[in-house]
Amino acid sequence: MSRTRTSDVLVIGGGIIGLVTAWRAAQRGLATAVVDPGPGGGAAQVAAGMLAAVTELHYGEQTLLGLNLASARRYPDFAAELTEQTGHDLGYRRCGTLAVALDADDRAHLRELHTLQQQSGLESQWLSGRECRRLEPMLAPGVRGGLRVDGDHQIDPRRLAGALVAACERAGVVFHRVWAERLTVVRDRATGVVTDDGTALDAGQVVLAGGSLSGRLAGVPEDVLPPVRPVKGQVVRLTMPRRHGPFLSRTVRAVVRGSHVYLVPRESGELVVGATSEELGWDTTVTAGGVYELLRDAHELVPGLTELPLTETRAGLRPGSPDNAPLLGPTGLEGLLLATGHYRNGVLLTPVTGDAMAHALATGELPEEARPFTPKRFSTATALTEQSA
Ligand code: GLY
Repeated sequence: MSRTRTSDVLVIGGGIIGLVTAWRAAQRGLATAVVDPGPGGGAAQVAAGMLAAVTELHYGEQTLLGLNLASARRYPDFAAELTEQTGHDLGYRRCGTLAVALDADDRAHLRELHTLQQQSGLESQWLSGRECRRLEPMLAPGVRGGLRVDGDHQIDPRRLAGALVAACERAGVVFHRVWAERLTVVRDRATGVVTDDGTALDAGQVVLAGGSLSGRLAGVPEDVLPPVRPVKGQVVRLTMPRRHGPFLSRTVRAVVRGSHVYLVPRESGELVVGATSEELGWDTTVTAGGVYELLRDAHELVPGLTELPLTETRAGLRPGSPDNAPLLGPTGLEGLLLATGHYRNGVLLTPVTGDAMAHALATGELPEEARPFTPKRFSTATALTEQSA
C-alpha cells in the first residue's frame, strides 16, 4: 500500500448526493474527502431535473412524499446559497408542470392522481383540454384534460453537479480522483477504503453514496450492503426555437400506453425528453427502440417536436431501492453511513439529503424527518425484532 490519507468523513461517490453530503459536512467543520474518478458525473448528467413531488406522487408512498415535500420547500434557499457561494447559475425555474391525458384511460388515471393529491393536501388544479392548450399552445388537439401543478419546478442537474463540485472545493473538501476498491473494516468498524491505485484512505466515518453502484463495493459486510439496483433511463435532448415565444413554457408530462413521458424545457433552449424505465442490469446502451418510444410518445403530446434538432441521446442508471425510497444515515456497521437508493428522486432530494447526512455525521442521529429512511429498515436483525414484537 503506497500511502495513507486521513479525514473525519470520507464520502464514496461524487454524484450529487455524495457531493451535497460532503459540502454540508465540510460546512459543519468536519475535514471531508470524496473519492470518485469523475466528481460531478453519474446519473445527474442524464437526469431531466424535475422537482416533481406532486406530479410524481404514487399510492403507498406517502412517507416518501413527506421527505420529497421537505426537500422541495428547501430548494429556493438551497439554490440561492449554492449560487451565492459559487457564482453558478443552476437553471432553477419555478415554471410549474402540466400533466395531461390523451385518452379516456389516461384521463381516469389523472383523475385518480388528482384525488390522491387532494387527499394528501397538495395543490393541483384540474383543467379541460381546451384550458391545457391555452396554457401550452403546442399541445396536441387531442389532449383530453390535465392537472396544473404550479409547485413542481425544475433545475438543471448538470449545472447543479458543477456547482456542488465548486462549493465543495471552496469549503475545503479534498477530492481523490480514483475508484474506491474496498471498504476497510477493523474490529467491526468501517475505517476507510483502499483505492484502485493502492492508497489507503482512512476516516472517522465513511459515507457510501455510490448511486446504483452502492451495492457493489467490496468489503462491505453482507448484512449492511445496500439493496440498490440499477434502473436504466434513456433520455433525449432537443433544441427549441427561440423565435415566436416559448415552444413550451412549463414541464409537460403524461402516461402514454402505460409509460411515463415528460418534456422539460430549459431557459437555455434545451428540451429534455425522458425517460424509459428498464430493469436491464448495468446496460447503458442507448437503443433505437428506447429513442423511438420516447419520441413517438412525446410526438403524441406535442406534434411540432419532430421539427426540432435532436442534439443528444443518453442513458443513465437510477439507484432503485425495494420501497423506492432512499437509504440515509448510520448502518449496523459502526462508522459506515449510507446516502443512496434515491431512485427517481435524487435531484429533488438533494437539499434534504445534505442536511440529514450532515446532521447524522455531526450528531450520530438522523433528524426526525429522515428517520423513516434509516437503512436499518432492511437489515435482517431489525426485521426479525419487528416480527417478534
Ligand atoms: N424522476 C424522473 C425519472 O426518474 O425518470
